Amino acid sequence: MANVVVVGAQWGDEGKGKIVDWLSERADVIARFQGGHNAGHTLVVGEKVYKLHALPSGVVRGGKLSVIGNGVVLDPWHLVKEIATIRGQGVDISPENLMIAENTPLILPIHGELDRAREEAASKGTKIGTTGRGIGPAYEDKVGRRSVRVADLADDATLEARVDRALQHHDPLRKGLGIEAIDRDALVAQLKEIASEILPYAAPVWKVLNEKRKAGKRILFEGAQGALLDIDFGTYPFVTSSNVIAGQAATGVGVGPGSIEYVLGIVKAYTTRVGEGPFPTELDDADGQRLGERGHEFGTTTGRKRRCGWFDAALVRQTCATSGVTGISLTKLDVLDGFETLKICVGYDLDGERLDYLPTAADQQARCTPIYEEMPGWSESTEGARSWNDLPANAIKYVKRVEELIECPVALLSTSPERDDTILVTDPFAD
Ligand code: GDP
Ligand code: IMO
Ligand code: MG
Repeated sequence: MANVVVVGAQWGDEGKGKIVDWLSERADVIARFQGGHNAGHTLVVGEKVYKLHALPSGVVRGGKLSVIGNGVVLDPWHLVKEIATIRGQGVDISPENLMIAENTPLILPIHGELDRAREEAASKGTKIGTTGRGIGPAYEDKVGRRSVRVADLADDATLEARVDRALQHHDPLRKGLGIEAIDRDALVAQLKEIASEILPYAAPVWKVLNEKRKAGKRILFEGAQGALLDIDFGTYPFVTSSNVIAGQAATGVGVGPGSIEYVLGIVKAYTTRVGEGPFPTELDDADGQRLGERGHEFGTTTGRKRRCGWFDAALVRQTCATSGVTGISLTKLDVLDGFETLKICVGYDLDGERLDYLPTAADQQARCTPIYEEMPGWSESTEGARSWNDLPANAIKYVKRVEELIECPVALLSTSPERDDTILVTDPFAD
């Protein structure tokens, strides 16, 4: 297969970064197609640990083209800092191997301020628990047709006109929330200053990718977040502000839907969530505590403690359907080592009725209680296992049951943060 899309199949932090880094050895181009620096991806390669937010996770391998697509919202000041940090770790990043779509909307300081002010002003039950990075307000400006985009940085008059258009909208909003007025000239000056650092990377990505595709190059489309945070199919309104599911890969870079041949869903062997919103299998007991501790479940972007719970097969079956997942990568299996009994959610009880999917209405989601099936755990260690034969019998049974319940095969299995502690079952790039 020439092209593979990687998407998170839960609420994010499934281990997409590790898997994209691992798979990128087989790809020519790695393209981010949505989200922004709300993402946090940790890559462990030998002694080195890379923490990526805006940069595609293929960037640490040499000889690949990394692309930031138009479906992303980009904070240019953050990107410049992230490039400097990752370069400081010995990674070569230049316009030769990093490209930013010219039609990418920018995240401006006013977006982060608005995001945080709204969260502070929110009453109990309406707070989303965002990353505070301005993602929602930046996407609002995109669909409101008042974004400043990468291409606007190239011409001073255009840039000023675009900033004025955005401020026409933001000035009254800020006033209403009690945020100080914007210094328009200072913002324009800041943008003009950063322009020279961003423009060398700007390119018509749709054109470059279409040429690569025609030349038979392999493209790896990298999704951020997870399908349950999708603006349409997630647990709305406790979601992010972009489409996260695989269909977004095409519009987020400018290729046709037929360019995508394989969708790899990244699935954690249990469930976690950061921020507010429903989470049927959440555990508020010693088992939840144990998952959090063994899995080091703290956010890469905000450092917040992640909420933890049992594996929810009903939800993953649903996200495999909305993304058309071909195969999954099951990650963090090792975190389940040592549990005497494991529970898997196979459906929900809603007011006495059994459901095999999570309903859409928020009040119904809140009333859904999980229906569990139990499986015996294993006492042996799976940490660092690199072959299927190294797995204990009960771990294999667990993986097989997950496959059955979500109706999707396991293509890859991950047993530690380290790049090479990965078991290949089926190569997503194989013809
Ligand atoms: P992403 O946002 O989907 O890229 O995931 P994050 O990087 O935010 O969170 C996943 C965390 O789990 C990172 O710290 C990874 O290093 C780590 N990780 C990934 N795969 C495994 C695994 O198989 N086992 C363990 N123990 N940790 C893993
Ligand atoms: P990666 O790519 C986990 C969550 C936030 C919040 C909601 C909205 O590392 O998997 P936003 O700032 O996007 O408006 O916040 O979405 N969220 C994530 N949770 N992993 C992520 O990314 C996330 N990106 C956003 O915690 O609940
Ligand atoms: Mg993450």
